[in-house]
Amino acid sequence: MKTITSVAALREELLNEWEHSIGLVPTMGSLHAGHFSLIKEAKKNNDIVVVSIFVNPLQFGPDEDYDTYPRAFMMDEQYAEELGVDIVFAPTVQEMYPRTMYNKVHVEKGTQALCGKSRPGHFDGVSTVVLKLFNIVEPKRAYFGLKDAQQVAVIENMVIDFNLPVEIAACETVREKDGLAVSSRNSNLTRQERGQAVYLHDCLQEVKKSVEAGERDTAILEEEMRAFLHSNTDGVVDYCEILTFPELKHQSLLSGKIIIAAALQFSKVRLIDNVIVHVK
Ligand code: PAJ
Repeated sequence: MKTITSVAALREELLNEWEHSIGLVPTMGSLHAGHFSLIKEAKKNNDIVVVSIFVNPLQFGPDEDYDTYPRAFMMDEQYAEELGVDIVFAPTVQEMYPRTMYNKVHVEKGTQALCGKSRPGHFDGVSTVVLKLFNIVEPKRAYFGLKDAQQVAVIENMVIDFNLPVEIAACETVREKDGLAVSSRNSNLTRQERGQAVYLHDCLQEVKKSVEAGERDTAILEEEMRAFLHSNTDGVVDYCEILTFPELKHQSLLSGKIIIAAALQFSKVRLIDNVIVHVK
């Protein structure tokens, strides 16, 4: 495995691989079981697997956790090596953004809800860095997790709008034994918060059951989510929303493919989770 930190060196390295398919797994590091599942999927279908590790300042708001975002580069390299990754691309901020950018991607649609609503500019930052990574690595396929379902939708739309020659693979959410979605940010939860965090997953499962039992009224179901999180956690509810997927449109009465999603703010960490359900 090679660790490469400059764009020029990565391009040079990949020049020799022009006849091989490249799978890219973009990450912000602190690799965990969620990332591992994307890497394993990429290994199955590509000759060369590139994992990028870059905590992207552009996608963090001024009051967000860019400084405290967990960083564990030595461990990441070890995991990547064990998983058979070919190249870890780990640029510095200076390497990715050597000057104030004259251009950025602005996401026009699909960000009025969920994280897009509570994190203005977040998906512009995500799309900008992902477009740069696509241009630098030129992967045949890129792997993203459905834990960040809105991110998957935003990237898929960018690929369509800009005719990017990349296939997007969306992978299932990997969970801890108790159901909590694995996340780099979980390590910044206090013990008590970690105990309560599981209710985020339980809340989604409760509402899913209500939908399966026949409830179709979005307002009633969203209220059920809020009440569940209020009574079981000290976290501040950021959003509880049920929308069509992947369009992310509101419906008063649910039908078709829907996403049930919630975000919960704890003292230092904001957790998100979702389930996707087919309503008959
Ligand atoms: P990061 O949070 O490091 O996540 C990297 C990828 O791993 C994302 O596609 C995310 O959805 C996926 N992932 C995270 N936790 C997961 C889990 N429990 N199960 C399955 N997949 C999971 O998402 C980002 O980084 C950044 O926004 C990035 C796309 C790298 C752009 O900076």
